[in-house]
Amino acid sequence: MQNHQISLKDATSVKHKLAETMPFNVRMFRGQLSKKDYLSYLQQQLAIFETIENIGIPHENLKRVANVQLDINELIQEGHSPSDILNSTIEYQHHLKNKNYDEILPHIYLNYLALAYGGQMIKKNVPSTGKMYDFDNLQDAVATIRAVQKDDWADEVNVGFDFLIRIFEELDHTKI
Ligand code: HEM
Repeated sequence: MQNHQISLKDATSVKHKLAETMPFNVRMFRGQLSKKDYLSYLQQQLAIFETIENIGIPHENLKRVANVQLDINELIQEGHSPSDILNSTIEYQHHLKNKNYDEILPHIYLNYLALAYGGQMIKKNVPSTGKMYDFDNLQDAVATIRAVQKDDWADEVNVGFDFLIRIFEELDHTKI
């Protein structure tokens, strides 16, 4: 029997489409988010990146915590008050935090390639400087994820997409 395993990108494309078309994400892509909404999104991103980067990261240049913190500080200094960390984000953190380095890698593929591809298109439309999307030598950093990614991560990446979709839902319901 032939064993043609479906590529990771193809095996996760249905969930990618769902995430891409979540109303909050569509508003972000169209430049329609308020600064307060975007600040809340950044806080959720920071919580996710802190949890992941406490476990490990394949390349220093991928680290996002400092950059996201700068974006958050910029909006707070403009007078926007921070929101809470959402229940859906806390649930994702719980899913992530007991993983070892090999187990966290599918979530690095998910959350960091999101910034490397879609994020580069979104950057110009967000109501902030967008330091979260700025990487030193992005291609080298991405290559370190590409070098380790495995097609059999598909189930775990799809689980990660489900958590992120719930975060987008909750962000939409808590907007002001
Ligand atoms: C407006 C929202 C989004 C747009 C426009 C977008 C767009 C894209 C594009 C153009 C690519 C490259 C596809 C290719 O190589 O042909 C990509 C890849 C990717 N995106 Fe998104 N995306 C969005 C949201 C997201 C979200 C929310 C996530 C998850 C957090 C995500 C995760 C990924 C991943 C993991 C890849 C790499 C797939 C691979 O090549 O293996 N994207 N995205």
